[in-house]
Amino acid sequence: MAIKLLGIDIGTGGTRAVLLDAEGCVLSSATVEHAPISSPHAGWAEQDPDDWWGAACRAIPECLTRGGASAGEIGAIGLTGQMHGLVLLGSDAAVLRPSLIWCDQRTEAECHAITEKVGSNQLIELTANPALTGFTLPKIWWVQKNEPEVWARVRSILLPKDYVRFRLTGTRATDVTDASGTLLFDVVNRRWSPAMIEVSYLAEDVLPCAFESQEVVGRVTEEGARATGLRAGIPVVAGAGDQTAGAVGMGTVHPGAVSATIGTSGVVFAATASPVLDPHGRIHTFCHAVPKRWHVMGVTQSAGFSLRWFRDQFGVEAESGGDSNRNAYDSLMQEAGKVPAGANGLLWAPYLMGERTPHLDPHARAALLGLTASHTRAHIVRAILEGVAFSLRDTLTIFSELKLPIESIRLGGGGARGALWQQVQADVYGMPVDLVAEEEGPAYGAALLAGVGAGVWPSVEAACESAVRVAKRVEPDKQRMALMDRQYEAFRKLYPALRDTMHDLSSRA
Ligand code: XUL
Repeated sequence: MAIKLLGIDIGTGGTRAVLLDAEGCVLSSATVEHAPISSPHAGWAEQDPDDWWGAACRAIPECLTRGGASAGEIGAIGLTGQMHGLVLLGSDAAVLRPSLIWCDQRTEAECHAITEKVGSNQLIELTANPALTGFTLPKIWWVQKNEPEVWARVRSILLPKDYVRFRLTGTRATDVTDASGTLLFDVVNRRWSPAMIEVSYLAEDVLPCAFESQEVVGRVTEEGARATGLRAGIPVVAGAGDQTAGAVGMGTVHPGAVSATIGTSGVVFAATASPVLDPHGRIHTFCHAVPKRWHVMGVTQSAGFSLRWFRDQFGVEAESGGDSNRNAYDSLMQEAGKVPAGANGLLWAPYLMGERTPHLDPHARAALLGLTASHTRAHIVRAILEGVAFSLRDTLTIFSELKLPIESIRLGGGGARGALWQQVQADVYGMPVDLVAEEEGPAYGAALLAGVGAGVWPSVEAACESAVRVAKRVEPDKQRMALMDRQYEAFRKLYPALRDTMHDLSSRA
């Protein structure tokens, strides 16, 4: 009997399980939402790791039931999840405090302190990246300084998906892609950085071992099996951070392949044959889920989140019956589809949670510029879609500065669904965009990695070649492309012109 593969994605909004057959076809999926992000102070973002584990314990059996699969049929499991989050465990393996997650912005002072202590060039040499507020190490420094009584009890540091792995298998392990986002990892040599560990006063055994993504690193324990309905002994591969697993799921694994994913955040991702460094640190340089391969990515903090925020604050009232959130999105998209490209001179800068690429500025603030009395809500929605795409184009601009080849762009996430988002992206990027057949996000990529670990495919590339298929290509429209080029020029001027005012306003928020 052919085996089945399970991918589990510990996302921000929820945990998603996806079941594949050994050809890479999706048999079923199930998502269980997490409690909302807790923000006890402005800029803070925390979640309870046990809520992730609880969600996994519900999503896994639900997915198996929907796919008509028994636990005995699962040949291997792959984990993925939100990156950069800090999970702290004490000596009895209990969680010591809520996790500071990827979008937490409290660590500006720690980023300055790390950069000062290590030196900015040295930091890039050691870790391939600058200190950014979202990364894990500044969070560690924050806890060391602000919660010394918690820090004194820390025996183990894990990333979000690796906490779920720990509950499932009893193994403390991570993978090279997720470790890349900690600022403690020597990305070029694919191992923890002794220098960064030393400068942060970390005990040697506080970090988990880091493996290549397709390596089997543990097996489901009896206890893990009881909690999830799985069978004890199923192998679990190292997996990958959500962006990297998502890229595997879209076949973005060879140099020249680029993907643009719009979820809560937005990411433009390129696979590279060697570590490519941006001297200004505007894009991240991380290990890929393919051995001896790396990737670069630029991140827009509030991509899909821009639209979600607008829907929640100003969207149509939820319609009765059905999925009211979906209805509210659909109505907004329908309205926006009737407005001409360029939204009659309206521009959205999507900096609702500061910005990473290209500004690296936690104090950047969102702006809606060009409003006149004749603009409507539909114009604003169109401007939001375009503004998010302009922000992703900023990463493509950096890729071309770094002379990275772009053969094609594949779309992922919410931005791949719906004709309007797809067309806006083709017009703004000025290139055809491809849609893959099974757009199931990071959990799909994690399941492919599990398949490689279980020997279904000989390599990650072979898995992508056999399972990932382009289903549709969307061409840009020449006229709209020219208009979007002009609008993008205006967009590029917006942040430098407003930067000081944004900082001034942020100091009073
Ligand atoms: C990647 C990043 C986000 C999070 C949340 O650097 O911060 O993609 O992983 O999804």
